[in-house]
Amino acid sequence: MLGKGRSRMSETILKLDNVAKIYGHTIRAVDGVSFDIKAGETLALVGESGCGKSTVARMVLGLTGLTKGGIEFDGVDISGLSQKALRSVRRELQFVFQDPYSSLDPRMTAGDIVTEPMVVHGMIRGPKQRSSVAGQLLEAVGLSARHIGQRPRQFSGGQRQRLGIIRAFALSPKLIVADEPVSALDVSIRSQVINILQDLQQEKGTAYLFISHDMPTVRHIADRVAVMYLGKIMEIAPKEQFFSAPHHPYSQALLSAVPASHPRRRRQRILLPGDPPSPAAIPTGCRFHPRCPMAQDICRVEEPPARALGDGHIAACHFAAPWPIQIPAAPHAEFA
Ligand SMILES: Nc1ncnc2c1ncn2[C@@H]1O[C@H](COP(=O)(O)OP(=O)(O)OP(=O)(O)O)[C@@H](O)[C@H]1O
Ligand SMILES: [Mg+2]
Repeated sequence: MLGKGRSRMSETILKLDNVAKIYGHTIRAVDGVSFDIKAGETLALVGESGCGKSTVARMVLGLTGLTKGGIEFDGVDISGLSQKALRSVRRELQFVFQDPYSSLDPRMTAGDIVTEPMVVHGMIRGPKQRSSVAGQLLEAVGLSARHIGQRPRQFSGGQRQRLGIIRAFALSPKLIVADEPVSALDVSIRSQVINILQDLQQEKGTAYLFISHDMPTVRHIADRVAVMYLGKIMEIAPKEQFFSAPHHPYSQALLSAVPASHPRRRRQRILLPGDPPSPAAIPTGCRFHPRCPMAQDICRVEEPPARALGDGHIAACHFAAPWPIQIPAAPHAEFA
């Protein structure tokens, strides 16, 4: 495997500045998102289905154009780059998607799949070198040289995801965008795959934009957590602060649905009424207000700015306050 070691934790590798994606003039799928990721860091992006997480991922990877805003990768503005120009960036910017089966060519062998990026970038010459590198790569994710000739369908879901992971790592990228990389896998093998992701990250110094629904996974892998709702970031915080003292009522509701590891830490369950509104009809003021147990008059008219709460903790709420929030009497609240 190729060494790395150039990245420093303080250096910003990815920077999104007020990024927006509007589909067909009305669907504001991503509506002004800003965050950055430092070298070697894991930022987890969480939020309910349809809030725009994958759209953010696709824009970062250049698979979808931006409607507004800018994206800088490793100091270079990549938001307007052509597919051709993106190719040189691609080496440093890789992805792992949810469904390893649909992203692996069923006709290719495992050996060809994992070495393809290195072949494309001229780092492997000849079949002999290709097969020896393939063996090393497969071993790095707990497979072996005897899997070289097998096709994707001959692997289990977890093994296929390992192929996808090592292919993403083969060029020692600075950032990997991982969109729900373990969600399609059996619960029993998720932690193995997460551990592989963590081990390779440590070895290579790679940063992750890690998209997940699953709070226990996020708690395990993230350095910081960003919460999205209807195309906007509601809160960003270092992981410990996010889990111990989330400030945004939406974050608090998300976390209250997660079973506590210890009964004494059990939280008041916050049930949010209804589903998120459509991104084609974003509510006025704070977009969360129709579902928010704390909403006041101001929330219906004035969009809350992102407030800095210290230590890199940011929350976009007029009443952001640490857990436990004081929730007005039912109908929104119940005790779990
Ligand atoms: N090509 C498209 N055309 C129109 N609308 C789209 C398109 N792609 C996504 N959307 C809409 O944009 C919104 C955000 O979708 P996105 O896939 O980014 O959400 P997500 O947070 O990744 O959801 P999930 O957790 O289910 O994966 C959704 O309302 C979705 O229906
Ligand atoms: Mg998605």
